[in-house]
Amino acid sequence: MEKMNLNDLKSETMESLSVKAEVYSPGSWKKIQGAIIEIETMEFKDKAFSAQELQEDFENRQNVNIVLRHGVMVIGFTSTSINGNNAHINNVVIHPDYQGRGLIGTLMSELENTLKSRAVVEITMDAAVENGYADKVKKFYGDRVLEIGTDKKSPWGLQRFFRISL
Ligand SMILES: CC(C)(COP(=O)(O)OP(=O)(O)OC[C@H]1O[C@@H](n2cnc3c(N)ncnc32)[C@H](O)[C@@H]1OP(=O)(O)O)[C@@H](O)C(=O)NCCC(=O)NCCS
Repeated sequence: MEKMNLNDLKSETMESLSVKAEVYSPGSWKKIQGAIIEIETMEFKDKAFSAQELQEDFENRQNVNIVLRHGVMVIGFTSTSINGNNAHINNVVIHPDYQGRGLIGTLMSELENTLKSRAVVEITMDAAVENGYADKVKKFYGDRVLEIGTDKKSPWGLQRFFRISL
């Protein structure tokens, strides 16, 4: 498994990070599984999805999975299920060392462009409340937010439901 060089990372500005998001092609799970499982477990600990659940999500052809890379290293991902013209984001996580740099924007814009090309018109998600993500989602999507739920308890902490227009 590739190891991060944190000194290199810290000396890089956000602008110089060569970060790219790409659509995952089912069938190549073995190449990315180590990094995906590591990121998921680092972030969600005992509440993390299991290796088998992650593999099922990535290999499900009804899903759109986007992988975020810094060079060749996988540093984040999202897994989204499509149901008719709705897409539900099941999971989104950026490696802890790369959080707070706005990289969610790179990941989500690739996801949204891919979903639009598949005739999806709205996305739904349960956004984490306690780390401020739900507030960022509300602010970022602004007028595109069609529905906001009340904060609900979940195994991953408080979550807020959003339905957002693509
Ligand atoms: C929550 C998480 C995905 C956010 O990613 P991030 O890259 O660290 O987010 P940041 O806080 O750096 O970036 C947010 C910025 O991106 C912008 N942004 C761009 N596109 C965005 C989008 N589609 N959605 C939300 N914010 C977006 C926001 O406006 C915000 O700008 P600001 O900082 O100027 O207000 C990430 O921190 C993470 O993985 N956390 C742990 C796991 C987790 O909570 N996952 C979500 C569960 S629902």
